[in-house]
Amino acid sequence: MPWRRFRKKVERPIDVSKSIEESLEDAADGEADEDLTELAELDDATIAEAVTGQPDEGRAPSDLGNKLREALDTDAPHRVGLPRSAPRGIAVDRRSGAARSEDPRAASLSYPELGVDLEVEVARGLRLKNPVMTASGTFGQGVEYAELIDVSRLGAIVNKGTTPAARPGNPQYRIAETPSGILNSIGLENPGAAEVARKYGKAWAELGVAVIVNVAGYSVDDYVYVVHEMTGTPGVVAYEINVSCPNVKGGMLFGCDPDLAAEVTRAVKAETDLPVIVKLTPNAPDVVAVARACEQAGADALTAINTVLGMRIDTRRRRPILGTGSGGLSGPAIRPIAVHITYQVAQAVSIPIIGAGGVTNAQDALEFLMAGASSVQVGTATFADPLAPLKVIEGLAAYVKEQGLASIRDVIAAALPARED
Ligand SMILES: Cc1cc2nc3c(=O)[nH]c(=O)nc-3n(C[C@H](O)[C@H](O)[C@H](O)COP(=O)(O)O)c2cc1C
Repeated sequence: MPWRRFRKKVERPIDVSKSIEESLEDAADGEADEDLTELAELDDATIAEAVTGQPDEGRAPSDLGNKLREALDTDAPHRVGLPRSAPRGIAVDRRSGAARSEDPRAASLSYPELGVDLEVEVARGLRLKNPVMTASGTFGQGVEYAELIDVSRLGAIVNKGTTPAARPGNPQYRIAETPSGILNSIGLENPGAAEVARKYGKAWAELGVAVIVNVAGYSVDDYVYVVHEMTGTPGVVAYEINVSCPNVKGGMLFGCDPDLAAEVTRAVKAETDLPVIVKLTPNAPDVVAVARACEQAGADALTAINTVLGMRIDTRRRRPILGTGSGGLSGPAIRPIAVHITYQVAQAVSIPIIGAGGVTNAQDALEFLMAGASSVQVGTATFADPLAPLKVIEGLAAYVKEQGLASIRDVIAAALPARED
């Protein structure tokens, strides 16, 4: 994967007090340590910074940071967001990205999606200017990226999973690479709801982009508490309920049981007037039953899907690589699963669906839209290319123009069989 670091060769002194067999064993252990150190660096220095939204100031520049800087240096202004200083006489509207001037140079400041109707209904009671969001846990708290890309071009950002109290996250290693994706077991590392509201609320309001708060918990009360703490936080337009968490009572994932998922949905709906989106787990025995139960309990939209359970084994240590054993698989590897679930759920419910799982470009996004989603989230792709969500917006705008469509809404559910009702 592109964020992999080069490995530094380590010279090991020979210990003459040991037998050849012992030395060989030590060497093998050392190599394993070396590999794991590399994974640890990958985790701490790159993806984890993006995941937690807590940049480590003292650390050498991360690959992600370098990528963002490179993008700034090399890409045209319209691709990376607003120029840091617009030419004199040209005012830039941070919300729309439009350059308000008769000056001919203004044309170079306009974005390809301007003037193209990409507006969609993301949830009941929530329309966004375009159907592209970032996925929870893959874009920090949004503010970290805002200095480098124009986040106001996004339909919305979804923040990192927020729990009632601060959580340090899971033991190392928390990221492992896989073909076409990554496995993660970050463990909902976050500073806790009150701190998230205090620390990021003001900044969110200034970003000029809608913020959806991703809510996590281990009891129904936890979810309600987080929403209560976040109430009134500037910039927040909706809640996305991560039901891929185990219920302390019984240990079952909320999202695996239709009744439990419905109970959380009802409780959160009673706490807020904002739209409530329930994020489905593909690990449920019957995802469609969970989707139906959430709709009946009042959910305003569903996100399909969260990560797929998976595992990798370190064959030298003969142990799972991730500290927690299993983790969540994301990236292009899960896209067909996510599109299929979207397609099934779209035929079972009437509320909007947000597609997520391996979206890397506009073509992928179109698959979800045609399968019945009205919007998409871009997650893992952002680690390899922080501009990926903006490129998806540009690609969708180009598609609408090329196809001569009135709006992107014309393709939503295009691949579904005709409904009987
Ligand atoms: C590192 C990482 C952290 C994540 N953290 C969360 C989280 O806190 N809450 C949540 O609901 N989903 C979380 N997810 C799941 C993503 O939001 C998304 O649903 C999933 O990764 C599929 O999309 P993708 O393939 O585009 O990444 C996380 C995913 C990754 C890769």
